[in-house]
Amino acid sequence: MYYGNPKGGLLADTLAGHTLVESSDIGDDALAEISLILEMHCNFSISVYKDKCMKRRIAIRMRSCRCLDASAYCNVLRQNSQELLLLKKALTIHVSQFFRNPSMFEKLKTIVLPPLFQSTVAEQKQLQFWSLGCAGGEEAYSLGILLHEFFAEDILQSPVKILASDIDDDILKTAVEAEYHEDRLKDIPEDIRENYFSHIGSRLQLLPSIKEMVTFHKQNIMDVDTFEPCEMVLCRNTLIYFTRPDQEKILRGIAHILPSGGVLVLGKSETLVGDVRKLFTTICPLERIYRRV
Ligand SMILES: C[S@@+](CC[C@H](N)C(=O)[O-])C[C@H]1O[C@@H](n2cnc3c(N)ncnc32)[C@H](O)[C@@H]1O
Repeated sequence: MYYGNPKGGLLADTLAGHTLVESSDIGDDALAEISLILEMHCNFSISVYKDKCMKRRIAIRMRSCRCLDASAYCNVLRQNSQELLLLKKALTIHVSQFFRNPSMFEKLKTIVLPPLFQSTVAEQKQLQFWSLGCAGGEEAYSLGILLHEFFAEDILQSPVKILASDIDDDILKTAVEAEYHEDRLKDIPEDIRENYFSHIGSRLQLLPSIKEMVTFHKQNIMDVDTFEPCEMVLCRNTLIYFTRPDQEKILRGIAHILPSGGVLVLGKSETLVGDVRKLFTTICPLERIYRRV
């Protein structure tokens, strides 16, 4: 099958004699074919993600495979299961860091967590947190460190459980392993790094006491009926890849499991959309922290 260039003619750059495919070279019919291959072989649907975002990432994989058009790349995908896995990985980008956006964690420490604990400590009630789209666990473990460091007495009286989920098996293995390259820890203050990690060669291993605070599981963010009730949801830098109707579906699912007063944190470039806006008030607009009404 040949997939024509949607803009007509080959839109491509050249570098050292190689033709470089651009995302604009991937037409909607090619995207549909790639989507079908992924669904058939990996049970992974890209229809919920923004097309532009998917095409950009597919083009990167096509360049790595030196495929000059989508038709050639589809053939590679059909014959090479390793490339299928690499494509899936590229489409579910896993960039994360410990204490990513440190100012957000500062806000959790100063204005969000104290009132949450105030309401549960008296009743010795459990507090459940959830990192949705947790990548390698950096976000969930950062929360664990924050709680351990600044709310040690509160968590004795009001036990905490941190859930963390992602769609990708490999990244979940990394999360459970909790062994990181230094660049994932560049936003961590020196004393936290020294107190909570041990060196294994050039890598850093998180302390077992923090690892034990987090339970990881595989879950598709689109399966909103499987969401578990909790008091705070961190859903940062994941929503952005989804189409607007699907963002709304996910946000509605989150609103459904949060009690009144429960907290939602989105990524810096994400926001509430549609009718879901009516279900939250804003705690901190800059850090995208919201409270369920
Ligand atoms: C950019 S990372 C965000 C990591 C972390 N929340 C942060 O802000 O640093 C996005 C994560 O969302 C996950 N993801 C993508 N699609 C998903 C889906 N349908 N269900 C669950 N997780 C998904 C990816 O595998 C990836 O690990």
